[in-house]
Amino acid sequence: MSEGRARPADQPADRSRAHATVAGHAVSAADWLDAHFEACRPEYEAILRSVGVPRGGRVLDAGCGGGNFLPLLAQLVGPQGTVAAVDLAPDNVAAVRARLVSLDLPCPVTVDVGSLLQLPFPDAHFDAAWCANVLMYLDDDELAAALTELRRVVRPGGLVAIKEQDLGLGRLHPAPAALSWHLTEAMGKTERHIRGGLRSCALPIWLGRAGLIDVRQRTVLIERWAPLRPVERHFLAEGLTMWADAAARYGTPAADQATWRHLTDPTSPDYLLDQPDLCYGEGHIVTTGRVPTRTG
Ligand SMILES: C[S@@+](CC[C@H](N)C(=O)[O-])C[C@H]1O[C@@H](n2cnc3c(N)ncnc32)[C@H](O)[C@@H]1O
Repeated sequence: MSEGRARPADQPADRSRAHATVAGHAVSAADWLDAHFEACRPEYEAILRSVGVPRGGRVLDAGCGGGNFLPLLAQLVGPQGTVAAVDLAPDNVAAVRARLVSLDLPCPVTVDVGSLLQLPFPDAHFDAAWCANVLMYLDDDELAAALTELRRVVRPGGLVAIKEQDLGLGRLHPAPAALSWHLTEAMGKTERHIRGGLRSCALPIWLGRAGLIDVRQRTVLIERWAPLRPVERHFLAEGLTMWADAAARYGTPAADQATWRHLTDPTSPDYLLDQPDLCYGEGHIVTTGRVPTRTG
């Protein structure tokens, strides 16, 4: 499938550094998703609570990754509801299945391999669909197809709720701001998920084009200042290693590469995670829409 080819054939995925799944999607393996989720949990859960998941509803988690949103989804729909999750990556689906065994969730939760481009559900099957951090991996044609699929499987009047990171809103102070800009620009030449992550602010237009109505959007900034909590430090330490590696691999200017190496070296006096004025920030776009009823 085309979405399994996130990189050109001459640039094989470095799975250890980029936290890629077996399907080839970078920063999508369950260990990295766990680290990111724990660092962002308060805001991530507040976003999900805010979108209007219906109690007692039948809800889809489209592109569930390691399943971090599933416990809260199950709690929100409650004992009368159900949650179905799909993901393209068999390794993520296996990880979620293993996790579900030890979780005592309030409603039935299933997980299967499946693509947003061809969701394995009948029309109007769900009351709501939740899709977090997945659409960035799709090109424009696939994005249109995925939104059409989400609209198809949600009943008239039902909810489609999307959360996507906006890579234009990142911050890594006191690193020079241009370091991240140059890295984003260099990676965006070959990495579709980087280009997709710069398209997030246009999602309301895309939801409207897919025929959803009552489309709303808001931006949530997640900011972390020193001193970091252990889960935040763990996530950012891994992120810094990955970004410094990417700066070299994607050919950012030599001076940038040297600065990345210096700022991400734990033995350096300028190691970012030890700076008292450290501020890490990322922006998320939350977009919701409703499937029109026959009367609109
Ligand atoms: C960054 S992860 C996000 C996972 C989860 N929603 C979260 O927020 O923690 C992106 C996920 O999208 C999945 N994915 C990418 N393209 C997909 C597609 N076409 N259909 C279904 N899942 C897809 C990947 O396998 C990966 O698990």
